[in-house]
Amino acid sequence: MGKIAVYPGSFDPVTNGHCDVVQRSLNLFDKIIIAVATNGTKDPLFTIEERLEMLKETFKEIPGVEVDSFDGLLVEYAAERRADAILRGLRAVSDFEHEFQMALMNRKLNRTVETVFLMTGLRWIFISSSIIKEAARFGGDTRGMVPDNVSQKLREKFGKA
Ligand code: COA
Repeated sequence: MGKIAVYPGSFDPVTNGHCDVVQRSLNLFDKIIIAVATNGTKDPLFTIEERLEMLKETFKEIPGVEVDSFDGLLVEYAAERRADAILRGLRAVSDFEHEFQMALMNRKLNRTVETVFLMTGLRWIFISSSIIKEAARFGGDTRGMVPDNVSQKLREKFGKA
């Protein structure tokens, strides 16, 4: 069996930065499971179903990518899915502290799952789901920063379709 990575997150919504991390990771892993956390602490714009649908549409033609959701502890989900690693993207130094803390907590909870960090492409360094939502809320054009289906969904959500 090939190498499997779980790529967890809120994906509210998925951005081109996330897509870039997935593309890069496919050079290292045979299968990527994009896992949407259902019990996140953030107040989401899109429902879990909407986020899963957008992700499935985005990756439908990319072999080796599965879209799923999970609740509870990430390390338990990763073990259940027999993942070799948890995948996270790093954009800037500001991500490091939070990611470092999460990776170490996850290691403490389960010593057998490693976290692998990939650097997001430079052109996506400034993008986060929040900044995309902020721009879209006030009518900004998000095309080229998120997949086309996501950009359309954002316009619908904010009544700009
Ligand atoms: N490109 C663009 N944006 C990116 C990015 C990339 N490559 N990588 C991260 N981001 C953004 C996200 O869009 C998100 O932006 P936002 O804050 O504006 O929404 C932010 O960076 C990071 O959020 P996210 O990827 O959703 O991760 P998170 O830090 O909120 O953590 C889980 C989410 C699911 C990984 C984490 O909460 C978890 O594991 N939950 C399960 C419970 C558990 O086991 N916790 C850990 C042990 S206690």
